[in-house]
Amino acid sequence: MKVSDLLSDAVRTLKASPAIDHWQADREEIESDDLLCFAMGVDELDPDAEVAAPVRRRFERMIARRATGEPVQLIKGFAVFRGIEVLSRPGVFVPRDSTEFLAEQAIRRLRGRRRPVAVDLATGGGTVALAIANEVRGVRVYGTDISREAIRVARRNAERLRLRASFAVGDLFGGLPGDLRGRVDVVTLHPPYVARGEVRELPEEIRRFEPPHTLTDRSVDGLGLVGRAAREAGGWLKRGGWLLVEVSPDRSRAAAATLRAGGFRDVRSTVDRGFKVTRVIVGRW
Ligand SMILES: C[S@@+](CC[C@H](N)C(=O)[O-])C[C@H]1O[C@@H](n2cnc3c(N)ncnc32)[C@H](O)[C@@H]1O
Repeated sequence: MKVSDLLSDAVRTLKASPAIDHWQADREEIESDDLLCFAMGVDELDPDAEVAAPVRRRFERMIARRATGEPVQLIKGFAVFRGIEVLSRPGVFVPRDSTEFLAEQAIRRLRGRRRPVAVDLATGGGTVALAIANEVRGVRVYGTDISREAIRVARRNAERLRLRASFAVGDLFGGLPGDLRGRVDVVTLHPPYVARGEVRELPEEIRRFEPPHTLTDRSVDGLGLVGRAAREAGGWLKRGGWLLVEVSPDRSRAAAATLRAGGFRDVRSTVDRGFKVTRVIVGRW
């Protein structure tokens, strides 16, 4: 069977799947291309190339999994985040392209600082922390997460990528060494920000494949952890250090107000011009 025919079948299957959130016009094409490249072990597809039977079967199994809602990153076992390959495992939040903007905002603020220190709260598989370690020279990076499984994956990611970052299980700032108090330049947080009552409205592919504690902190407005971070971050940041929080657009005003109430200055909502699905709220201590 030819690449082009195989892709047409796959796109049709994915478009018909009720488990997939069809929010982006060409999402099914992008994902089918991505999975076929992965199955064939190539970077680019030739539409006229013949696909060997074992590769075709492998690809069709992957498309069948995707049609159940399983994210592409879990099927492949990894995600590419700002150019680094991070493992993606069941039970640990799947890294999203939209979070690259949170990392970018942190990296911009860390570069040029003397002996910079960064803390990534709710780090999951360590994606933001590792992007910072990869792109900011001489930085010391710490990541914490309430989930043991997430920290296990974060540590494995650091090892595989040969990047220096320390990861610890802990409730927000709970896992950090005490001597970091007052010495942190940038704190990043991509929290579980879905309101308790809104989890059931999420697309099936998110509800079924992301553990609940990665989606919601069970607060009524979804900003329970943001509020705690805004109150506690001042004890860890240097004067002039930054707290950066990723939220959905409908939470951005409330999150900004939360940072101001926590004593932060220069609070703004920033948005990735290309990818407008999230906001990063920034505030200076
Ligand atoms: C939306 S995910 C973000 C993961 C990662 N930062 C990323 O962007 O890929 C939220 C993370 O918050 C973690 N989490 C939930 N409650 C927490 C808490 N009280 N303290 C630390 N981490 C927490 C979850 O385990 C999950 O990994």
